[in-house]
Amino acid sequence: MKYLMNIEVEKNRIFFNDGNNRQEIHPFWLRERVENKEFLDEITQQRLFDPSILQTNILIEKVKLENDELEINFNDGVKSYLKVSNIINEYSNQKMVMSSIKKVKWDSNLNNLKNFIYNADISETKEMYDLLVSFYQYGFVIIKNVPTQDNFIINFANSIGSVRRTNFGEFFNVRSIPNPNDLAYTSYNLAPHTDNPYRIPVPCIQLLHCIENEVSGGLSTLVDGYTVTEDLKNEFKDYYEILTKIKVKFKFIDKEVILEDWSELIKLDEKGEFKQVRFSPRLDYVPILNKENLDLYYKARNKLSEFYNSDKYRIEFKLNPGDLLMMDNYRLLHGRTSFDSNEGNRFLQGCYIDYDSTEGKIRHLKRKFNI
Ligand SMILES: [Fe+2]
Repeated sequence: MKYLMNIEVEKNRIFFNDGNNRQEIHPFWLRERVENKEFLDEITQQRLFDPSILQTNILIEKVKLENDELEINFNDGVKSYLKVSNIINEYSNQKMVMSSIKKVKWDSNLNNLKNFIYNADISETKEMYDLLVSFYQYGFVIIKNVPTQDNFIINFANSIGSVRRTNFGEFFNVRSIPNPNDLAYTSYNLAPHTDNPYRIPVPCIQLLHCIENEVSGGLSTLVDGYTVTEDLKNEFKDYYEILTKIKVKFKFIDKEVILEDWSELIKLDEKGEFKQVRFSPRLDYVPILNKENLDLYYKARNKLSEFYNSDKYRIEFKLNPGDLLMMDNYRLLHGRTSFDSNEGNRFLQGCYIDYDSTEGKIRHLKRKFNI
């Protein structure tokens, strides 16, 4: 493999050159990474020593660069061979598996998105890798022909990673029931929302598996919160700004528990880029702010709600028995149209998994298939 990036050696100092900038690599950074048997466990690739025992004045006494290998003598008597490609991979953000998958913006014009077909061995296949990449590009994916046995969703979730259990249990049933504790268990329409904004942390991914669907309504709806956020930023900058600053309280009350968390409706990461949306206007509470700020906040939330509920952004589709919808609860909003429960049964089962499951699986499959 040819790298544009390079490792250079000059008078017992080692440099990383990315084509634009050249910077010296700290000798301690290299010393921590020695791969000698007494320092690194071959199977787990975990360190066999605590680097805080090393002296901080580690220096390189001798270094030789040959092909993909650095031969280094450190001043504490340790001699080691380090692979140049490993150092470059670690230095280069471009090589990081997750950041290399770019989000694709979409709205109601989205069509022809590839569905995936379930098979019993799918979790260890290249198909699963493609499925997960598509999931991170669009924020959702539909898997067809998933066996409609009760609880099968748990098998599916655990074949990717681990189910995220909540106080609702390992999974939940979505069908209309008498005296429901949530509007999800009625036949009303559900406006686009994100799930469980009151949990710490909010579940990352929702899986929804259709077992029975005999009604003509009850269509599933999805909205890309990422696209809406980007459009809001371009068209209503002041609304975008207040919604990324003010933390509101989300609260869920049940007989045995009161769940509560505070967050911005649009949360940005440390680089100021999109991280997460939360939207559940039946259970959010803005704090008491001065009148001008609240005035702006309410206008901003109304505009956001108008965007989320607009036909411009929403896709609608029917989930049929055997369809499993996997959606990013930090990025997408989901909902459903109303239905007439007298027409027949509508029964879905849902559960959550977190990003460590999907990201862990992607990295594993990338390594397995040498992608
Ligand atoms: Fe929901």
